[in-house]
Amino acid sequence: MPNIDKNALLSILEPAGQSQVLRFWDSLDDAGKANLAGQIEKIDWLRVNEWLKTASAGISQEELQALSPAPYRPTVPAKGDEDFYAKAIQTGKDLLAAGRVAAFTVAGGQGSRLGYDGPKGTYPVTEVKEKTLFQVFAEKIQYAQKKYGHVIPWYLMTSVINDGPTRKFFEEHNYFGLAPENVKFFAQGMLPALDKETGKALLASPDSLALSPNGHGGSFAALKDSGALADMAARGCDVITYWQVDNPMIRPFDPLFLGLHALQKSDMSSRCLIKRDAKEKLGHFCLLDGKTIIIEYSDMPDVLLQQRDADGRLSFRAGSPAIHVLARDFIERLTAGKLDFQPHRALKKVPYIDNCGEPVTPTSPNAIKLEFFLFDALPLAQNPLILEGDRNEEFAPVKNPDGEDSRASSRQFLNARAARLLAEAGIPFPKKADGTMDAVVELSPKTINEATDLKNVQVPEIHPGDRIYLE
Ligand code: UTP
Repeated sequence: MPNIDKNALLSILEPAGQSQVLRFWDSLDDAGKANLAGQIEKIDWLRVNEWLKTASAGISQEELQALSPAPYRPTVPAKGDEDFYAKAIQTGKDLLAAGRVAAFTVAGGQGSRLGYDGPKGTYPVTEVKEKTLFQVFAEKIQYAQKKYGHVIPWYLMTSVINDGPTRKFFEEHNYFGLAPENVKFFAQGMLPALDKETGKALLASPDSLALSPNGHGGSFAALKDSGALADMAARGCDVITYWQVDNPMIRPFDPLFLGLHALQKSDMSSRCLIKRDAKEKLGHFCLLDGKTIIIEYSDMPDVLLQQRDADGRLSFRAGSPAIHVLARDFIERLTAGKLDFQPHRALKKVPYIDNCGEPVTPTSPNAIKLEFFLFDALPLAQNPLILEGDRNEEFAPVKNPDGEDSRASSRQFLNARAARLLAEAGIPFPKKADGTMDAVVELSPKTINEATDLKNVQVPEIHPGDRIYLE
């Protein structure tokens, strides 16, 4: 139970100049007091003040001058590397068969761009069966468990905002066929939104701070504090495959990626996608002082975005789809002492109550949000590996209600992939005169992830305009 003694709370807040969050205290009932006190106690206020001063608003000019593109391994082995890649694939399969791989999905974000009312994982994505993101992932896990003959525990990071509805969703759907004891939820930390002029914490209501999840980089502390890392250790999992909740095309158990990660003794491995063009909004894998870092699209000056190498290719072409493999012991080392990450700051529109307690819905950014980024661990990682991926096979995120990176664009990618797998299996797929697909085929991730899986499936003749589900 939180301590609802006002003086005790003031002793926490006053040194940080944040006692204004108690301005409605005397009018609150005990439940309201307990709520606000609980929130206040969980925050390191002096550190928040420090972060406000130091939080990175981007990269400095000197650092930009010193950047070079980070090297990456190609999808297909370079000449001479064929045996090494073959060994990596076998190593990845062995890791899966030995139960050494844990799955980890970050699902604590607010999904504000999508504007969907509910945890993003409960958003229906597939075209014929309208399977939700969570169901798609659960089925991919079932497929891999069957294929490699071992349980793959699944860890899901939520936030206090969506933890309850996320758990309820899984219960209502019987965990989509997974064993509940192998699906673990834990909530990430929260940070207060701060007025952009004064740095004072905002209130969402008289008894609640305006809080938001502390970023996907909050994963490290949350994995440790929730006991998830210890649970992985107890299960013998030392390799963590990480993905974001919005990508239904993820291939979380790619033996090559897992195997290269292990053979290279990498602490943190990353997929990269070759940017379609200079303006594609992916983070960039770069080297700075010999360390691998990711520079966000918005922080890259145009001259670097456009820079070309001797072959005429974009120099900074390795973009990040936020797909990683992490060594469990790396996270254990990171979290052994006090985590010393710096959050990033972003200006956002955050609803709050004014001094009279009246709700205000800002029309322009009014607040600073602090967020930790997962990729800030990269420069601390030993032997970081970057492996090129194929965007048509593994990246179709759903971030926006329409246009780029929406459900509609994601469905097109999924359908195109189905068409490719069918073609590989010798099954024709109707096309329109302009070459676009003239049918919709949805493949069940539980049973069909590769062309060879189609051997076990009765595939009807596909006619123009058909909508077919195969499993
Ligand atoms: P995004 O950066 O796309 O943010 O998160 P978001 O919150 O989902 O969506 P917007 O920006 O509000 O529209 C990428 C991934 O990181 C997770 C998200 O759930 C998503 O899987 N994430 C993000 C967290 O788990 N916690 C956070 O605090 C932020």
